[in-house]
Amino acid sequence: MSSAQGSLRGSGEAVTQTFLFADLAGYTALTEAHGDEHAADTAERFCGLVRALLPAHEAEELNLVGDALLLRVPTASAAARLAAQIVSDHGHHNGLGVRVGMHTGSAVQRGHDWFGAAINLAARVADVAAAGEVLLTQKTRDVLPAATPTQPRGRRVFKNVSRAVELHELVVRPGQQEPRLTTDPVCRMAVDPALAAASQTHQGIEHHFCSAGCHELFDASPYSYAWAAAGPGGAPGHYVPAAGRAGLTAGYDLAMALTMRERRWRPALLHAATRDLPPGGTVLELGCGTGANAIALAQLRPDATVLAVDGDPSALAIAQRKAGAERVAWHHQLATEPVPGSSPIDVALCSLLLHHLSDADKRQVLTRLADALRGEGTVHIADWGPPRGLLTRLGAHALQALDGRQGPASLLAGELPTLLTDAGFSHSQCAGSVTTAWGRLQLWQAQAQGPEARSRPPMAGSHDPTSPTSEGAQP
Ligand SMILES: C[S@@+](CC[C@H](N)C(=O)[O-])C[C@H]1O[C@@H](n2cnc3c(N)ncnc32)[C@H](O)[C@@H]1O
Repeated sequence: MSSAQGSLRGSGEAVTQTFLFADLAGYTALTEAHGDEHAADTAERFCGLVRALLPAHEAEELNLVGDALLLRVPTASAAARLAAQIVSDHGHHNGLGVRVGMHTGSAVQRGHDWFGAAINLAARVADVAAAGEVLLTQKTRDVLPAATPTQPRGRRVFKNVSRAVELHELVVRPGQQEPRLTTDPVCRMAVDPALAAASQTHQGIEHHFCSAGCHELFDASPYSYAWAAAGPGGAPGHYVPAAGRAGLTAGYDLAMALTMRERRWRPALLHAATRDLPPGGTVLELGCGTGANAIALAQLRPDATVLAVDGDPSALAIAQRKAGAERVAWHHQLATEPVPGSSPIDVALCSLLLHHLSDADKRQVLTRLADALRGEGTVHIADWGPPRGLLTRLGAHALQALDGRQGPASLLAGELPTLLTDAGFSHSQCAGSVTTAWGRLQLWQAQAQGPEARSRPPMAGSHDPTSPTSEGAQP
C-alpha cells in the first residue's frame, strides 16, 4: 500500500483514496426495453449483492444513483480485490454485465458527502468499461503491487479532464476462459448465442436477442441500435468491420497494400490534413481502423494532439501494437457518438469510414464534426465516388458485396457534397481521385463554418456535385 493512502474519515482534509464505481452496462437500454419495475428490481438486487461484499474489504458506500454505486476503499489493493470479487461473483447480473471503474486520488469529505475530481474520473472510467470488465487509471496501477495482473488499455481523453488518461484492465480471472456471451443490441442483456430467442445477421455481424420483442424492434430499425453484441464485453458494436467481415480485420493492412494503391492517395490525404492543422492543434480521425493515418499524423506532427476513434476493438488492438501508437489517444466508440475530448477539433479525417454508415448515420457523423470543428476547421474525406467506366463499376459491385449495399449507395451516386452542405460545411471540393480494385476513391475536403457564418445563407457555387474541381487528378 502506498504511504499516501489511508483513511482519514471526517477530518475535512483532502485524503488519497481509491474510488470505485460499479454499475450495470446497458441498464438504461434495459429500462427502455423491459420497463421501470424490472429495471428497479434488477438494480436493487445488484446493489444488495455488492453491499454484502463491502465489510470484508473495509469499503464504504458513498452514493447510489439508479444502478451505479460509488464506493470508497482505503487502499488500491483492497479496491482491486473488491472489484475482482464483484465482477467474478456477479459479472453477469440478471442478464446485464457488471462493470467497474477505479481511480486513486484525493477527495474531501463534507458531512456525509465526498467531493473531488478523483470521484468524477472514477465515474468516467466506469462509463467506458465494457460489461464484465474492471478498468483502472495509471494512478491506481502505480499504487497496486507489481504482481497484480493488469493489461494496458491505452490512453483515453475524458470530458472535463485536461490530459489523456492511461487506462489498465484488471485481469480478474487470470488464465480462465470467459463464457462467450454476446449482448442483445436492443436491451443490452447478455445472451448466450446457443440459447438466444432469435438471431439475425446485419451488415456482416450476427446479433442475438433475448426475446422475440427485442428482435422485432431491431428488425424494424436496425440502425437505431448503435450498441450491439461484441463478445463478453458488450462493447460498442454497430459498425462494419474494416474489411467488411469481422474475421478479415487481421488481413486488412495487407489487403489495403495489395488492392488500394495507397501510395497514390494516403500521402495526399495526410499532406492536406497536416497543412490545415495549426501548431499544437488537434486532429481527429473517425473510423481510424488499424491506425495507418492516425500514427502517420502523429509522426508528421509531433506538436499535435491526435485522437482516433473506431468501433471495432480488434482493429484498435492492431493499431495499438504498431510503432508510434503511443502518440495517439485511441477511443473505442462509435463515430455517431459525441466526439471525444472537450476542446474543439482543428482538422477531422474520415478515411474510408462513411461508406460503412447508413445515410442517417453519415448525416449524424458529419453534423457532429461540423459542430466539433473550430470555425473554418476542415474535414478531409477519402471515400468512394461515382464509378466511371466498366472497371470502376465492377469494383463498386464487389465493394457492395463485401460492405453491404446501403452504406456505399449515396456516395456512389455522388451525394457526398450534398451531405456535407446539409451538415453545415461549406467550400466542399474534390481534391482528386484514384482508381482502385474496389472502384473510384475520391478525396474531398470541406470547411466548417463558425457560428456566425452558419447563420448566413450558404455561399453560391461552393461545390458542383457533378464536376468536382479537380476530378480526375491523381492525388
Ligand atoms: C475501411 S476501414 C478504414 C480504416 C482507416 N481509416 C483507413 O483509412 O485505412 C473503416 C473503419 O471504420 C470503422 N467503423 C465502421 N463503422 C463505424 C462506426 N459506426 N463507428 C466507428 N467506427 C466504425 C471500422 O471498424 C473500420 O475500422
